[in-house]
Amino acid sequence: MHMSLDGKIVGDYLATSVGMASQREFHALAYGPQRHYRSHKGWLSGRITTEDNFTHYRTPDLNKAAAAVPDGDYIAVPDAPMNYFSIDPAGQLGWQKNSIDYFDTNAHVVEVLSGKASNAYKDLLRRLGISYLIAGDDTLDLAQAVEKIGANFGGEELMLGGGGGLNWSFIRAGLCDEVSIVLTPAADGTKGAQTLFEADDRYTTPLPTAFDLQDIQKLDDGSLWLRYTVTGPIN
Ligand SMILES: NC(=O)c1ccc[n+]([C@@H]2O[C@H](COP(=O)([O-])OP(=O)(O)OC[C@H]3O[C@@H](n4cnc5c(N)ncnc54)[C@H](OP(=O)(O)O)[C@@H]3O)[C@@H](O)[C@H]2O)c1
Repeated sequence: MHMSLDGKIVGDYLATSVGMASQREFHALAYGPQRHYRSHKGWLSGRITTEDNFTHYRTPDLNKAAAAVPDGDYIAVPDAPMNYFSIDPAGQLGWQKNSIDYFDTNAHVVEVLSGKASNAYKDLLRRLGISYLIAGDDTLDLAQAVEKIGANFGGEELMLGGGGGLNWSFIRAGLCDEVSIVLTPAADGTKGAQTLFEADDRYTTPLPTAFDLQDIQKLDDGSLWLRYTVTGPIN
């Protein structure tokens, strides 16, 4: 994740020259050709992150009369160099193509659905060549999602790419080993803006949690790269 000096992950600071330089450093570490994290095949993002950045709250173009799709998961592109694992429990995202571009990285879209996603939505994904994995029945089973991503797409690690809601769910579920932050030397002071971790009462509760600093580096643009392991809940 990249975040502002005041812990915010969204805001006007992002589009400034300082914000963009820091985001380029972040991208290089996570996804660039000389990246630090080399053992992953993509990153996970929550539904709101995808709406805000890629599908822009479009309604999916469903064929309600579509024939029943086969049960189970669907792998359209098994060997893409990079994948965008899109958490979308009910199948709501209005995709129009099967890849996204983020800086100079192209990533195949893999939807991570629960049993609530409709036949018509899965039919749309198949028509678009978008892979999907089903994890959980009424709610998404995060541990099963991680297992299925590893089993179907490989990779020794998996990047957790936000937003704050999804990040906190992974911390609370004990599914996050490392927190890696590019701290941008900027802030905009927006009250209430999304932070790195946000409990969402539909999914999680707040809980004091400790992290153990492993490394700190100053990057070329003046950002700090901080790496922590997750210690866990504290009294
Ligand atoms: N600076 C950065 O590095 C960075 C990175 C990523 C995102 N962002 C920003 O973060 C903002 C979005 O963050 P957000 O916290 O509002 O949303 P989010 O984490 O992107 O997505 C949350 C959604 O994911 C789905 N979800 C399913 N199971 C979940 C679970 N167990 N826990 C949490 N979510 C679950 C839910 O969708 P349903 O509502 O369909 O159930 C939930 O509403 C965006 O504006 C984005 O641009 C910044």
